[in-house]
Order: sequence, then structure tokens, then C-alpha cells
Amino acid sequence: MSCEGDVTGHYSKGALLDALMAALRDDGVDLDRLSIQDLAPYDQFHGRGLEATLEVADLLACSADDTLLDIGCGIGGPARYMADRFGCRVVGIDLTAPFIGVADRLTEMTGLGGRVTFRQGNALSMDLDAQTFDAAYSMNVSMNIADKAGFYAEIFRVLKPGASLVLSELSKGAEGDVQYPTPWALTPNESFLATSEETLEGLTAAGFTIVTVEDTTAQSIAYGANAKAMVERGEKPPHRAVQLIHGPIALDAMRNTAAAVKSGAAVPVEILCRK
Ligand SMILES: C[S@@+](CC[C@H](N)C(=O)[O-])C[C@H]1O[C@@H](n2cnc3c(N)ncnc32)[C@H](O)[C@@H]1O
Repeated sequence: MSCEGDVTGHYSKGALLDALMAALRDDGVDLDRLSIQDLAPYDQFHGRGLEATLEVADLLACSADDTLLDIGCGIGGPARYMADRFGCRVVGIDLTAPFIGVADRLTEMTGLGGRVTFRQGNALSMDLDAQTFDAAYSMNVSMNIADKAGFYAEIFRVLKPGASLVLSELSKGAEGDVQYPTPWALTPNESFLATSEETLEGLTAAGFTIVTVEDTTAQSIAYGANAKAMVERGEKPPHRAVQLIHGPIALDAMRNTAAAVKSGAAVPVEILCRK
């Protein structure tokens, strides 16, 4: 990674919890009965929001006895979804300390505190024992990490033999360049996109067996078209996490990502592999 401060500075933009509570009140949500569905437009901080998380869950296919690891968990939306859907335990780890505070609070408010826990830490050196987790996933995190070999090796270390890993992320496409800002980086200096081929080679070199690879470009474009139509009808878009977290740069960041996916400069992929 370029520098931990670059990453955490990029994602820490002030009173996130207050802004989120205000947005939920504006949606008419009863904060005393907060559900993961109420939070979904805001706490899934990756392309296609809950739709993509659902697909990652389908690939993981966990059981209630499992303990999952969410690497780069953000404010915890995917972790809460997995715990709610499978009845399993989830540990989330993220570099950005303010995200951990918000993740804890939201988890307490949604009544999932017994099964979902979060801790601040770096994915490159996690304070976790070897061979602990039944499965792991990471959504839109690797784009902030330069040391991909270190990233894959560290995930491999903490997984049990036979455990699944799902990576859902943007890879570097063959067509043109990504324009910045994006939701994951203000400038190209903080962005570390790998091609899908590089990612598959890196995972294999770390010891993983690749099971499936899906290019989700078509789904991303369709999701963006639907969101645009909703806004044109005067509705709130389905996915409002980037606006919540990035404020003034959000619109440019989302436009640049949509343009990169459309042009082929960036390719969204979902990779299932096994230790
Ligand atoms: C785009 S957000 C995605 C958050 C979450 N995975 C989600 O989908 O809602 C990227 C997250 O990766 C985290 N991150 C980046 N580099 C990291 C690292 N080296 N270790 C742990 N977390 C990291 C950031 O702090 C940020 O929360």
C-alpha cells in the first residue's frame, strides 16, 4: 500500500454516524427498530451495493456453524448481511478506525452484536491466529493495496484448509485509463488495480485453487442505468454509500467509475477460490 495514512485519510471524512442517522431519519426510518434492510442503501460501500453482497453470499454458501472473515469491512454492511442470512459469526477487520466505531454502533442497533465483531487492523498483517476461519471475503478493498502477494498470503494463513475465499473487486481492464477521483482513491497514486490475470496468478501463487471467475460488467451497467432512471423519476438512488462517505467528491467519483466500467478501463469481477 502507498501509505496507511493515505487510505484512512481518504475514507475518514468527519461525522459519518451523525450524517447516516440524519439520512435514515429523512428516509422515515424508526431508529429504535433499525434493520439491515434500512441500512442497505448506506452500509454496502461497493459497486451495486446489496446486490453484489448477495452474490458473494451465494458463492460462500455458509452454514450457521461457520465463522467468516470480512477483510476491509468498511462500516460493516456485508458482515451484518452474512450474519443475518446464515446465522453465522463474522469478524470484520478494517484499516480505517472511524469505520470500526460506526460498524460497532450499527451492529449494536440492529441487534447483531453477539455474532458480528469488528477490529481495526491492516489486512497485510492481521492480528488473527492461523487457520481460524471457515471462509473469507473482501469487497472492493484490493484496489487500495499495492502488495497483492502479501494480501493473498495473509488471507491464506488465517483460513482453514478447504475454506473458500471470495474477492469482489474492480480489476484493471484492457481499454484506456481510469479517471480520478474514484470511491477508492483521489488520484492514481493511491490506486492499485491489477488485471484479472494478475489476480488469478497471485492467488494461485499464494496456494489458492481458482473455482469460478465472473465478469460482472453487464450487471454494473444495468445497475447504473436503473439508478439513473430512479433519480430522473425524483426517487433516491438505491445505493447512497458513496455520497454518505465522500460528500462533495461523490458524484465525480461515481461518474468516473461508471465511465471506466463502460469503457472497459476497469472490470468488476467476482472470484471464488479455495485454500
Ligand atoms: C470501498 S471500501 C469497502 C468497504 C466494505 N468492504 C464494503 O464493501 O462495504 C474499502 C475499505 O477497505 C479498507 N482498506 C483499505 N486498505 C486496507 C488494508 N490494508 N487493511 C484493511 N482495510 C483496508 C478501507 O479502510 C475501506 O474501509
